Amino acid sequence: MGQPWWREGVLYQIYPRSFADANGDGVGDLAGITAKLDYLQWLGVAGIWLNPINPSPNVDWGYDVADYTDVHPDLGSLADVDRLVAEASRRGIRVLIDLVPNHTSNQHPWFRERPDFYVWADAVPNNWQAIFGGGSAWALDEERGRYYLHNFAKEQPDLDWWHPEVRGEFERILRFWFDRGIAGFRIDVAHGLIKDRELRDDVGSERVHSMNRPETHEVYRGWRRLADAYEPPRVLLGEVYVLDIPAWAGYYGSGSDELNLAFNFALVHADLDAEQMRAVVSATEAALPPDAWPCWIGSNHDVGRLTTRWCRGNEALARCALLMLLTLRGTASLYYGDELALPDGHVSPEHVRDVAVPSRDPCRTPLPWTGEGGWENPWLPLEDTSRNVEDQRADPGSTLHFTRDVIALRKESVDLRSGPYAELPAPPSTLAWRRGNGTVVAVNFGSGTAEIESVEGAIALATDRERQGESVGGRLRLGPAEGAVVQR
Ligand code: NOJ
Repeated sequence: MGQPWWREGVLYQIYPRSFADANGDGVGDLAGITAKLDYLQWLGVAGIWLNPINPSPNVDWGYDVADYTDVHPDLGSLADVDRLVAEASRRGIRVLIDLVPNHTSNQHPWFRERPDFYVWADAVPNNWQAIFGGGSAWALDEERGRYYLHNFAKEQPDLDWWHPEVRGEFERILRFWFDRGIAGFRIDVAHGLIKDRELRDDVGSERVHSMNRPETHEVYRGWRRLADAYEPPRVLLGEVYVLDIPAWAGYYGSGSDELNLAFNFALVHADLDAEQMRAVVSATEAALPPDAWPCWIGSNHDVGRLTTRWCRGNEALARCALLMLLTLRGTASLYYGDELALPDGHVSPEHVRDVAVPSRDPCRTPLPWTGEGGWENPWLPLEDTSRNVEDQRADPGSTLHFTRDVIALRKESVDLRSGPYAELPAPPSTLAWRRGNGTVVAVNFGSGTAEIESVEGAIALATDRERQGESVGGRLRLGPAEGAVVQR
């Protein structure tokens, strides 16, 4: 029996407002995603995950949910979800959605009708700090004369996960979407749900009591039982924003009883530097329990695009980074546009829509489908369309074709899909590793030529497309910003 689809396949993150706009109102929508499924199938991804699609006042663009079981009218309707799931399934693509269980919008009916679902204090009880807006994470509710907790914006009150009915509501929400054919959830702030029962102070800048409580693991054990009871089992993918690798690995539980996948933010936070990357990968491999499976990203809607953050716009380096993400042991999740080596967009101050400072809008700009962009009056500006889908699709030497070919190679190769990882000796600025018995991957992030010893076989795929098919007899030479997969 093969491995589950989410281990072998590649995921693709879609920021729905910026992916594709079917009704021409300048805001991407679910029908737009459905209309682009042929593109995603051509690219070869196995699953897509969507940033929040629920009704929301959009203080934090969907991360302030006002109704967990409906769809924001800007994006479509439940019928559009059903169509997307059905059309995606016809193309072998699964659909995951974002679940925001840590907090709701202050416009969610619960905030007025079920105040007991939230975390309250008569006076500011501790030093917890809000992530947006700065200052205390406690805000006075004038009507009640009490303070509520908001780890993020003041319009995002935190739920009280000690409350059994809150847990019950979320089990209902999970079932609602699983029953509709949703393949799984990306779980927002997955490490944050439970707050310290005694509301003790955080320690320095470490969120040891406002988040990261060990009792959260029990919640995921319950969700995993629920997700595993479906056929096929549904997937839990956590935004576990924990940089301490052993603590992060704890969210996989025994390896098969908590989250199926957790984004690896230690890698995101590393520079595109061979030493730093090697250290993260090796610590990750050492920390994960035997049945657990890593999940690699280089970009998302918060941290920015890898082409800008890691590669300062350099397309050759972006190919090296993509090659690394897609061939390490684990599942890679690409962010829409990564496949084009799309850099962050430019959003001038008067166009900023984000609540966070600095704004995350530059990595949320519309996907350029054509040289003209393919958008009318988009909700965020689209200025640079030099890297666009149409042009790159027409050019077999493009990064888009490169990404597609790496995904295809991964599909063909048992080593790349499921083979164990073994670090190989490599010169400075260079990373090399073996997958399974017959596959070696090497990337050179440096500006000089590098030579990796004891590599035998033929180049199955390289960032320099001219090199494919070259045979390698003991020594693999890589130019600056070059990477290759060698198969025996
Ligand atoms: C993490 C999400 O990725 C981010 O966009 C959001 O602002 C916070 N969680 C709060 O929900």
